[in-house]
Amino acid sequence: MTTDRLFAGKVAVVTGGANGIGRACAVAYARQGADVAVFDREADALAETIGLVRAEGVRALPVVGDMTKLDEVTAAFARTRAELGPVDILLNNIGQTARENYSEFYRARPETLQFVIGVSLMTTLMCSRQVVEEMRERRSGKIVSISSDSAINGDIGTVDYAAAKSGVLGFTRALARELGPFKINVNAVCPGPTNTRAMQRIPRDAYERARNAIPLGELCEPEDIANAVVFLSSDKARCITGQTLMVNGGRVFY
Ligand SMILES: NC(=O)c1ccc[n+]([C@@H]2O[C@H](COP(=O)([O-])OP(=O)(O)OC[C@H]3O[C@@H](n4cnc5c(N)ncnc54)[C@H](O)[C@@H]3O)[C@@H](O)[C@H]2O)c1
Repeated sequence: MTTDRLFAGKVAVVTGGANGIGRACAVAYARQGADVAVFDREADALAETIGLVRAEGVRALPVVGDMTKLDEVTAAFARTRAELGPVDILLNNIGQTARENYSEFYRARPETLQFVIGVSLMTTLMCSRQVVEEMRERRSGKIVSISSDSAINGDIGTVDYAAAKSGVLGFTRALARELGPFKINVNAVCPGPTNTRAMQRIPRDAYERARNAIPLGELCEPEDIANAVVFLSSDKARCITGQTLMVNGGRVFY
């Protein structure tokens, strides 16, 4: 293994890394030399990601599980520690809108609201809770969380999602203050509309609206988000914490 890679000898965890942005980040971490544990509930897609990670010449650990469930979260981190070692980098990537229940707030169902907050906010809190004690003891670590520029823009039909993803930003700021004295960086990335299946699933009119509102004229690719994630996970960003980096073709300024 070459030692000039950003993450040589480090262990990274990517939640929701079987597809889309998470997959691109897992591969990008591996390309920079990290061993990568990938947590996801989709076993087949996860196996594909693991193949791509291993092709970079690093160790990869697939963990199939539902990260909204505390016992599965705890087990996933225990396996990672046992098989790869202590976690140096955590990417909280899991999140989604209500998809088929996508609707304006006056029609929202309570169970949909709970689902969106659970998957798009609670997973980030629960996974981060698993690594902070160890990072404090080691006085090092990076936590990056994927929010959304919907948190800033406030898009119609995604009130629950905007609430959850705004929560991720508040979480990032408060945790950055708590962990700053331990030299742990905590940051967030807000993707704009990005070319993944999540984007293909939203209603066509919402998709067109999103694309037409991007000054650079096109959706981001998952690799564009991964570039920002890699930077914030690295010591090149050692002086950056509590921040929100927008990667959105200019759709929203912040
Ligand atoms: N694609 C976009 O346009 C866009 C824009 C802004 C923010 N985001 C955010 O980026 C992140 C990744 O989105 P994506 O577009 O790559 O989505 P995606 O659906 O392609 O990938 C998400 C992955 O998370 C996994 N996952 C979801 N819930 C899980 C759970 N409870 N336990 C384990 N795994 C779970 C899925 O199986 C999937 O592999 C999300 O947080 C999303 O909200 C996406």
